[in-house]
Amino acid sequence: MKFTFVTLFQNIVEGYFGDSILKRAIQKEILHIEYLNPRDFSSSKHNKVDDTAVGGGAGMVMNPQPLFESLRKFKSMSTDVHIIFLTPVAKPFKQNDAKRLAKKSHIAFVSGRYEGIDERVVEMYADEVFSIGDYILTGGELASLVLCDAIARNVDGVLGNSDSLSVESFETNLLEAPSFSKPENYENICVPSEYLKGNHSKIRSLKLALSECKTKFFRPEQLLKHRTRKSYEK
Ligand code: ADE
Repeated sequence: MKFTFVTLFQNIVEGYFGDSILKRAIQKEILHIEYLNPRDFSSSKHNKVDDTAVGGGAGMVMNPQPLFESLRKFKSMSTDVHIIFLTPVAKPFKQNDAKRLAKKSHIAFVSGRYEGIDERVVEMYADEVFSIGDYILTGGELASLVLCDAIARNVDGVLGNSDSLSVESFETNLLEAPSFSKPENYENICVPSEYLKGNHSKIRSLKLALSECKTKFFRPEQLLKHRTRKSYEK
């Protein structure tokens, strides 16, 4: 699967792929990462990419010209690409989106900087628009990395053990039960004794109960969704 980052700041993005799981997936050629800098397409004298907002307002807005030119050329060379814009003015990105988008062969993330991107670019080129949460970042790069990471780990072969995908938080609308590693007793703090007895059906019911507790405490609206879905499935 290929990811293209359309960004003025490749350096911000690049470092993320230099270690761990995604680095390995790139080495195994399961993932391919490339970059496109709209500044390289600017027709202005000093390769300008932004200007003041038409109609007034604080801050600078990314001009349409460098983005139109770069995305037009890019689309003509990559016919199957799915283009995603990152902005706080969008639907929230969810685990279901990560799973759905992992089936695409090529995704491009377009990151805005400054006060955002001229809306005409979004209208012309966005297949989808996502926000990663109700807060404002200095640019879309971090958001695009969040999406890329969440999507990539659902691509076949990226994670070593595909079991780890099926029991994760949000797969059932419940938050995941707590996990523990060795030793069983660390500084006199013990893991729940039920986890140690090897009775897998008991461990499963304890984990479910703990999942429900966590969900009720941190995300009560998710618990409601879980219970509604379960009663619907009966
Ligand atoms: N750019 C700035 N803030 C953002 C957010 N919350 N989500 C996606 N892109 C953004």
